[in-house]
Amino acid sequence: MKQLQGRDILSIADLSFEELYYLLDFAQKLKSGVEKPKSNKVLGLLFYKASTRTRVSFTVAMYRLGGQVIDLNPKVTQVGRGEPIEDTARILDRYLDILSIRTFAQKDIQTFAEYAEIPVINALSDLEHPCQILADLLTMQECFGSIAGKTLTYVGDGNNVAHSLLLGGALAGVNVRVATPEGYQPDTAIVEQAKKLATNGAEIVITDDPIAAVEGAHAVYTDVWASMGQEDSANTRIPLFQPYQVNDELMGHADSDAIVLHCLPAHRGEEITNSVMEGKQSRVWDQAENRLHAQQALLACLLGC
Ligand code: CP
Ligand code: NVA
Repeated sequence: MKQLQGRDILSIADLSFEELYYLLDFAQKLKSGVEKPKSNKVLGLLFYKASTRTRVSFTVAMYRLGGQVIDLNPKVTQVGRGEPIEDTARILDRYLDILSIRTFAQKDIQTFAEYAEIPVINALSDLEHPCQILADLLTMQECFGSIAGKTLTYVGDGNNVAHSLLLGGALAGVNVRVATPEGYQPDTAIVEQAKKLATNGAEIVITDDPIAAVEGAHAVYTDVWASMGQEDSANTRIPLFQPYQVNDELMGHADSDAIVLHCLPAHRGEEITNSVMEGKQSRVWDQAENRLHAQQALLACLLGC
């Protein structure tokens, strides 16, 4: 898709409805081997936070395209010593063809995108995790065929993953319900943006009632109660979040064919029980695999190959 070439993807809402569905279909074709795009370009990975899935799936996706990857570990590059983003971005722009960044502040990714001409991809910030949501929607599409009109319920912390689910779900025509404890709701600006994007009839619901939110849902999704950078508040969150655990009892309220999703890594016994994670409704391993196919599709489109 020519119109994606050279673009930055800082939010899942940077995609249009047509672009989102094009990427999902393209990812499916890459997964089945029908499409085999090639590129000899170089991807830089600049990750200020830990990562297994995103780091490895981006690396393998680029290798499968025929390209190469450079790990710009902040611990051994000058960004970690305080070289300004504005300067680093203009330097990396001269060497690399595309850059994937995982950082704390969304503002930092925006600054990189402003100062580098090459495409910049948000590989997770405190605000959003757009690449994750491409894989999540791909997994739902594999399970249900058409996803428009299905209901996805996210239970837990109103975090980066919840934000991208709200925006990506709204864009795709998926009803998104988010159930969180009081004080841990998603960002109100993101909720408003999701409601505006849901022009095609998708329903956006924010509640503190996990049972009502899961009632009849086709997909039940959770994530850790304390994200990277919030470790200090992890213990105080546990009792507050306990009613939001995805367990067999809560799953009893979902549609009988409902699937369970989790971006991983999971804290079993906290946001999800071992029984649900290993149960027959769980699609978490397919979901993690789909990171590879979704990101390969994204890289190919942004690089124009
Ligand atoms: N889901 C996800 O982004 O996993 P990693 O933190 O391992 O990359
Ligand atoms: N919300 C989690 C997602 C990890 C993939 C975090 O930001 O740590």
